[in-house]
Amino acid sequence: MRIRNLKNTDIIVNNSLYLVKNPNEYKGKWKSLFNNNNPIHLEIGMGKGNFIIDMAKNNPNINFIGVELYTNVIARACKKLENVDLNNLKIINVNAESLNEIFDKEIELIYLNFSDPWPKKRNAKRRLTSQYFLSIYENIFKSIKRIKQKTDNTLLFESSILSLNDFGYKIEDISLDLWSTDKITSETEYEHKFRENGVKILYLEAVKK
Ligand SMILES: C[S@@+](CC[C@H](N)C(=O)[O-])C[C@H]1O[C@@H](n2cnc3c(N)ncnc32)[C@H](O)[C@@H]1O
Repeated sequence: MRIRNLKNTDIIVNNSLYLVKNPNEYKGKWKSLFNNNNPIHLEIGMGKGNFIIDMAKNNPNINFIGVELYTNVIARACKKLENVDLNNLKIINVNAESLNEIFDKEIELIYLNFSDPWPKKRNAKRRLTSQYFLSIYENIFKSIKRIKQKTDNTLLFESSILSLNDFGYKIEDISLDLWSTDKITSETEYEHKFRENGVKILYLEAVKK
């Protein structure tokens, strides 16, 4: 994601009450941080946070954790959250590659919204639905593993279906035009732009029991 640098990025991020600075310390103990037993949902690659902030506002009985690799991107979400009071949302500034060092059988659902498609074959491992990433997610899920993906990118969508299927997931729901269905949830920044330009949003829900 190309993004202009926000002034005082480090100060904004470090002062955010939503950012968990030492996420590894909560491995196996995230429910104590939220102080309840509600389900925990992750969004990997949360970008500027529109989706996860809106989901947290609309679903107070679900705990949400946003994962984002880049500090200057997560700073945008921290800025939006400065005057927002949500006790069911946390964000972490890490690479998804380290998620199995941060969670232990705690997550019920992963959202992958408009993940980078990495179109070249030599980069296929970097797609967030590659076998490499699916094996990282394996131990962070509580029992049933559930992934919901939205994308505009046909190549990523097709490769995700194949990879999920090879890894033992079943595609339980699929749409080639999400916005023509009743499954619309909170909108992401990318989704908004694509939809305004008439691009159809691809959607799937995959489950592994
Ligand atoms: C194309 S943007 C989409 C942002 C947002 N989900 C949306 O739909 O508007 C993909 C985001 O995923 C983040 N990302 C990519 N690979 C990641 C990784 N391995 N771990 C964490 N975040 C990652 C990028 O930094 C970027 O912010």
